[in-house]
Amino acid sequence: MDLKSPIYICRSNLKEFESDIKFYVKRFKLDDKNMAAHQFKVLLYENKFAAFGRLRDNGDAIELCSLGVVEEYRGKKLGNAIVKELLSEIKQDIYLVTVIPAFFTKLGFRETQEYPISLQDKRDNFCEHHHPGNCISVLKYSK
Ligand SMILES: CC(C)(COP(=O)(O)OP(=O)(O)OC[C@H]1O[C@@H](n2cnc3c(N)ncnc32)[C@H](O)[C@@H]1OP(=O)(O)O)[C@@H](O)C(=O)NCCC(=O)NCCS
Repeated sequence: MDLKSPIYICRSNLKEFESDIKFYVKRFKLDDKNMAAHQFKVLLYENKFAAFGRLRDNGDAIELCSLGVVEEYRGKKLGNAIVKELLSEIKQDIYLVTVIPAFFTKLGFRETQEYPISLQDKRDNFCEHHHPGNCISVLKYSK
């Protein structure tokens, strides 16, 4: 840990961050399916809970989901930082479903038309329900 840096990324500790994660997942209307503490990374900014995201093993794919930055900390590249941290964690390809593909293509994700069934389900059910009328993309980060 670099004590001079305001940013510190750590793996989630269920007891410490569970209520913050649940609060913001709900507030930002993010994917709350099958949440488990070990999936999450949390980013503290000046020692305050600022951002979070997770990798979920769907069985047929690893999915990056439930990514959020607390409003007052947006625009400081914390979203970028937590995605990069999650990407560095595993050697497999990583998928995601999003209505803001531009945020993720800057980080190396590419739109894909071929993807496992769990992503199709997410796209057709969760995203269509939460973001009606929005253009939904499935993206892949190839390792
Ligand atoms: C999307 C979100 C995670 C971005 O977090 P952030 O910390 O403000 O983003 P960053 O500061 O790391 O931005 C990195 C880059 O992405 C761009 N960007 C930020 N939000 C964006 C958005 N909604 N759409 C497209 N690009 C975006 C920034 O302009 C910046 O571009 P640059 O590198 O060319 O300057 C944050 O706004 C958020 O939590 N939104 C609500 C929840 C959400 O939508 N989660 C994603 C679900 S798939």
